[in-house]
Amino acid sequence: MPAVTNLPASMESMHQLLIDASTDIDNAQSLAQLDAVDASLLGRGSPISEARRGLGAIKDPDERRDTGRAINDVANQIKDLVSSRRTTLAATEEAEALAADSVDVTLPGRSPARGTHHLITQTMNEIVDIFVSLGYTMATGPEAETEFYNFTAMNIPKTHPSRMESDTLYLDYGEQEGEVLLRTHTSPMQARYMEQHDPPVYVVVPGKVFRADAIDATHSPVFHQIEGLAVDENITFADLKGTLATFAREFFGRDTKVKFIPHYFPFTEPSAEMHAYSNGRWIELLGCGMVNPAVFEHVGYDPEKVTGFAFGMGPERLAIIRHGITDVHGNNDLRPLLDPDHRILGQYL
Ligand code: DAH
Repeated sequence: MPAVTNLPASMESMHQLLIDASTDIDNAQSLAQLDAVDASLLGRGSPISEARRGLGAIKDPDERRDTGRAINDVANQIKDLVSSRRTTLAATEEAEALAADSVDVTLPGRSPARGTHHLITQTMNEIVDIFVSLGYTMATGPEAETEFYNFTAMNIPKTHPSRMESDTLYLDYGEQEGEVLLRTHTSPMQARYMEQHDPPVYVVVPGKVFRADAIDATHSPVFHQIEGLAVDENITFADLKGTLATFAREFFGRDTKVKFIPHYFPFTEPSAEMHAYSNGRWIELLGCGMVNPAVFEHVGYDPEKVTGFAFGMGPERLAIIRHGITDVHGNNDLRPLLDPDHRILGQYL
């Protein structure tokens, strides 16, 4: 606590003033508060100025001098206290203002999450790219298809069960009932493409297909296929095997083993399924076969001059196998592919 020197007994109140002033000054928490305290201690009407005004009434010159000195002494000490408190508060306020304003340029920026293609799209693009690297072109066709291209041109007889409404979604469109449908496979593009192009043909056709199925682990009413067609002179089953084995090794890895087992499709003869060995078991990857001469005849190709092979595969299935997409029990399941919560598919991207 600051001391008042040579304080005459009559100046007890000055001493108390200094003590109180020191407390008020310390309590001022801002420069504005300090200004107010300063004015109340030293300004007009303050105890100091009142005491000075009273000096003239003191008759004894020595007492007047001593009292005047004591008042000045207290006033100067108050001024010093105010000034040192002002320095402290100014520094604090500046530091606070700087902190509030500051930008830490070393912090990492906040980047918005970037979108990606859906895993099915990525898978289809990758499959198409593999065939493009083998010299194939890509084509796409209509999702609303005619009964002719979807079935008849593909050598699927009028009585085939896949034509039934329990399997195929028919559209209320066209001249006759049952004429237009949602394509059940991408195979009709074989016929459409051959009608539009002379051989040789090397084409892949990715796209959506539709069936009257409820969603479960292995079915969805909307899914995807990639069709392939190679037509040229002297194409053999060996070309089919070499091409599809190459594809399997590109997609699943260099050491992938494949085997072909006999199957039946109306649009190919002979027909096969290609299986791949993955995680200790053989898994069916796709259907394939040598183009049935009946299909060539529908599109005006001469089966005596050209031969070809065709294949069809499901990117959902291939993505599930490659990424191990399963339900919570570890069974393969396509439903995570359809989940709108991006955290689900985000795990596989
Ligand atoms: N269209 C067949 C399906 O949807 C898949 C398929 C099998 C396509 C054999 C082909 C093929 O071109 O040769 O199940």
